[in-house]
Amino acid sequence: MLRTKWPLYSTILSLIIIVCNTTRHANGDYLIGVGSYDMTGPAADVNMMGYASMDQNTAGVHFRLRARAFIVAEGVQGARFAFVNLDAGMASQLVTIKVLERLKSRYGDVYSEENLAISGTHTHAGPAGYLQYVVYSVTSLGFVHQSFDGIVNAIEQSIVQAHNSLKPGSIFIDTGDVDNAGINRSPSAYLFNPATERAKYPTNVDTLMTLLKFVDDNTGKSIGAFNWFATHGTSMSKNNKLISGDNKGAAARFFEDWFTSSNPTTKTGTIINNTVSNSTLVQIAGKIKASGGKTCGKSSSKASKVRKNDGSLFVGAFCQSNVGDVSPNVLGAFCTDTGKPCDFNHSSCNGNTLLCVGRGPGYPDEILSTQIIGERQFKKAIDLFSSAKKELTGKIDYRHVYLNFTNLDVQLDINTVVKTCPAALGAGFAAGTTDGPGKFGFQQGDTEINEFWKMVRNFLKEPSKYQEDCQMPKNVLLDTGEMFDPYPWAPAILPIQIMRLGQLVILSVPGEFTTMAGRRLREAVKETLIQNGNGEFVENTHVVIAGLTNTYTQYIATFEEYKQQRYEASSTLYGPHTLSAYIQEFNKLALAIAKGEKLHNSLSPPDLSSVQISLLGQPFGDSIPTERKFGDIKQDIVFPKKGSFTKGERVNATFWSGNPRNDLLTEGSFTVVERLQGEHWVSTYDDDDFCTYFKWNFDNSTSYGSATIEWDIPIEEKSGVYRLRHYGSSKPTIISPIEYFTGTSSAFAVL
Ligand SMILES: *[C@@H]1O[C@H](CO)[C@@H](O)[C@H](O)[C@H]1NC(C)=O
Ligand SMILES: *[C@@H]1O[C@H](CO)[C@@H](O)[C@H](O)[C@H]1NC(C)=O
Ligand SMILES: *[C@@H]1O[C@H](CO)[C@@H](O)[C@H](O)[C@H]1NC(C)=O
Ligand SMILES: *[C@@H]1O[C@H](CO)[C@@H](O)[C@H](O)[C@H]1NC(C)=O
Ligand SMILES: *[C@@H]1O[C@H](CO)[C@@H](O)[C@H](O)[C@H]1NC(C)=O
Ligand SMILES: *[C@@H]1O[C@H](CO)[C@@H](O)[C@H](O)[C@H]1NC(C)=O
Repeated sequence: MLRTKWPLYSTILSLIIIVCNTTRHANGDYLIGVGSYDMTGPAADVNMMGYASMDQNTAGVHFRLRARAFIVAEGVQGARFAFVNLDAGMASQLVTIKVLERLKSRYGDVYSEENLAISGTHTHAGPAGYLQYVVYSVTSLGFVHQSFDGIVNAIEQSIVQAHNSLKPGSIFIDTGDVDNAGINRSPSAYLFNPATERAKYPTNVDTLMTLLKFVDDNTGKSIGAFNWFATHGTSMSKNNKLISGDNKGAAARFFEDWFTSSNPTTKTGTIINNTVSNSTLVQIAGKIKASGGKTCGKSSSKASKVRKNDGSLFVGAFCQSNVGDVSPNVLGAFCTDTGKPCDFNHSSCNGNTLLCVGRGPGYPDEILSTQIIGERQFKKAIDLFSSAKKELTGKIDYRHVYLNFTNLDVQLDINTVVKTCPAALGAGFAAGTTDGPGKFGFQQGDTEINEFWKMVRNFLKEPSKYQEDCQMPKNVLLDTGEMFDPYPWAPAILPIQIMRLGQLVILSVPGEFTTMAGRRLREAVKETLIQNGNGEFVENTHVVIAGLTNTYTQYIATFEEYKQQRYEASSTLYGPHTLSAYIQEFNKLALAIAKGEKLHNSLSPPDLSSVQISLLGQPFGDSIPTERKFGDIKQDIVFPKKGSFTKGERVNATFWSGNPRNDLLTEGSFTVVERLQGEHWVSTYDDDDFCTYFKWNFDNSTSYGSATIEWDIPIEEKSGVYRLRHYGSSKPTIISPIEYFTGTSSAFAVL
C-alpha cells in the first residue's frame, strides 16, 4: 500500500533537497547527531507491558522495536542534551539509572540525569519486566532481565551512534494538525473541566504534531526527524501476542523507509528484472525446493538484514505527548453484545466493562488499524518535514529536579496550601479502559468499593485514615504508596525536566497527562518563560510535552476530571492536586531557565535492582522430532491451485525451531523474504518490515517448538521468484551451548 506512493514522494524529496541546499546557512551554532538501535527483547513467554493481562505473553514479532536518539550541542564544549525515544510502554527509573551509569563510564560527566531524556512511545506490545516498582511487574512475574538488558543496551548504543555522528547541522521546526488519529476515551471526564476553559479549544483532544528536522550543514541532507503527537499505543489489543511498535513504531518504520527509498544513494531492496515471463518464473520457482536446516553463525541473520545499521541510517521518531485520555480507536467504543455505544459515564454495557471495547479504523483488523493510525501520523510528518523552514536558533539549556511527590506542599492561591498524597490507585483503575477493559467487575467512575474487595485490599494494605482523606474522592483500592513489601509498589521520588533548544521547550513528564492537564501545564510554563525571559521567549515559542519520560507514574488528570474517577483520574497517583503540583514545580524550572539560575537537587530515586524478584523461568531446552534438524521445514509453502501467488495474498511456511529467548537476534532477524536476482538471493524484507510476521509456536503436548514465517505480499511487489527464510537458535538442554541455524522454504513465483 505504502510503496505505490514512493515515486511521487521521491520527486517531492528531490525538491526538498534542492530547497535545503539553497536555504541552509551554516551558522555553525549547533552540532547534531542521531542514532538508532534494536531493542526488541524476548519474543516468547514474556508478559507484554501495558494491558497488565496475565494471558498476554509474547509469541513472535510483527516488527522490531527500536530506541531512536538525537543529540544537540552548542559546539563541542557548549551545552548539549540527548533525547531518546523508545518503542516501549514507558520509560523506567531503573533503566534510566543504569543507562546513566554506562554513559558515565564512557563519557564522564557529558551526559547526566540533567541533560538526558528517555521517553516511551507507549506501545502496549513490547516485553514487560523492566520497571522497578512492584505494581508494574506483577503480571510479568517480576523483573525480566532480558527485557531490561535489551532496553538499556539499545539506549546506550543509540546514544553512542548519535554521539559519534555529531556534526555541524541545522534544525528546522514545523507544526500541523493530524486528522483522526485520536479521540478522547473519557469525554465525560473532560466535560468536568470548566466550560470557559473548554471553549478555548476546538476539540477534546490535542491534534497538533510538532516536528523537528535535522539537516547536515555539509551535505545539505537531512539525517533525521523527531515529532511529538498524542495518541495511545493501543491500536493492537490485549489479544495480540506479537511484539509491535504499535501505531507510532509503524509510523517510524514507514517514515524511515520513505526517506531511504526516496534517496537513490542509499536505496535498499531489490533491483527490478522485468525480462522474464510469467511461465518462466513459475518454472524457475518449481525447481527450487526447501533446504534442510543448516548451522550458521551468531551474526548470520545480521548479514541478511535489508537495512544495515552502520550508524548512517536516517532516523525518524514518533514521540508521545499528553496521551492520557487519547485513544487511537477512533470509531469509538461499542458493546460487543448489542453493537450499541457504551454507557457514557462508565464505559460499560449493562454494568459490564468487559463488553465495552473501542474500535480502530480497521476494525475488526487491528493490524490494519495500526497501519492506518501509523499512516495518518506518517503522512502528516512528511508534510511537516517537507515544509519545515523555520530554523531553530538560540540557547541550549536544561533544568532537572527530583521531587518527593508523597507530601508536596502546593500553593493554590495566596491563602490556600494543599498537599499531594502517597501514591494510590482507585476502583476506576481496576476497571481499565475501552482500549483494554479490566476483568474484576469494576466500572470507570466507581467511587465505592464493595466489602469483598475491601477485604482483599485490606489483606494487602489497609490505607491509613490520612491517605483515605487525602485521596478523596478517590476510594483507595491499592494503597501502593504505603506498600513496601517485598519492595516499594509505587515511586515516591519523581524526576521533572525542561530541555530548551532555542525556541523549542520540551517538558519531560514521568507519566500520562490528559489532554486538558497537558494544556494547563504547557500554558503555565510558557507564560512563566515569557514573563521572566527578558524577551528571549515569545508567543511563538513551542512548548511540547514529552510523555512517559525518565520514569513512570501512570496518569495525571485535572482536579475537575479527578472528581469523576474514571480510569485516568483513578490512576492519578498522588491525589486531586497532582496536576497543580506539577504546574507549580515546572514553573520553578521554567523560572530558572528564564532567569539563567541554577537549581539545587538534594534527592535521588532509589536503585532497587538488588531487591528485584524474577519468577519467570528460563526456557528448559528445545526439542523437535528426532529425525529433524533445527531449521528443517515443518510445513512448506501451500501453493494455491493456480500454482503461483498474487500480490496482496499472504504466504507462509513453518520451520522446526528453538525458543527465541535463546538469542534475541538483536539487530538481526528471525524472518527474511528473499528474491531471486539472477543467480543470487537478495534480502527483500525482514523482521523490521510491516508486511512480515514471525510467530513462535510451542506445542505443549510434544514440547516441540516451531516458527511460522508469514509474508503479506505487497500490492506493488515486483513479479519474481521468492522464498522465505528463518533464522533461529537452539539449546537442546538448559546447559547446552547455543547453536544457530537457518532454513528456507521452497521457492514460489509472485505474479
Ligand atoms: C453523566 O454524569 C453526569 C454527572 O456526573 C450527569 O449529569 C449526566 O447526566 C450523566 N450522563 C449520562 C448519559 O448518564
Ligand atoms: C518522601 O516523603 C515521605 C513523607 O514525608 C517520607 O516518608 C519518605 O521517606 C520520603 N522519601 C524519600 C525517599 O525521601
Ligand atoms: C499457511 O497458508 C495456508 C494456505 O493459505 C493456510 O491454509 C494455512 O492455514 C497457513 N498456515 C498458517 C500456520 O498460517
Ligand atoms: C534478468 O533475468 C535474466 C533471465 O533470467 C538474466 O539473464 C539477467 O541476468 C537478469 N538481470 C538482472 C539484472 O538480474
Ligand atoms: C496446552 O495448550 C492448549 C492449547 O493451546 C491449552 O488449552 C492447554 O491449557 C495447554 N496446557 C498446558 C498444560 O499448558
Ligand atoms: C503474469 O501474471 C499476472 C498475474 O496473473 C497477469 O496479470 C499478467 O498479465 C501476466 N503477464 C503475462 C506477460 O502473462
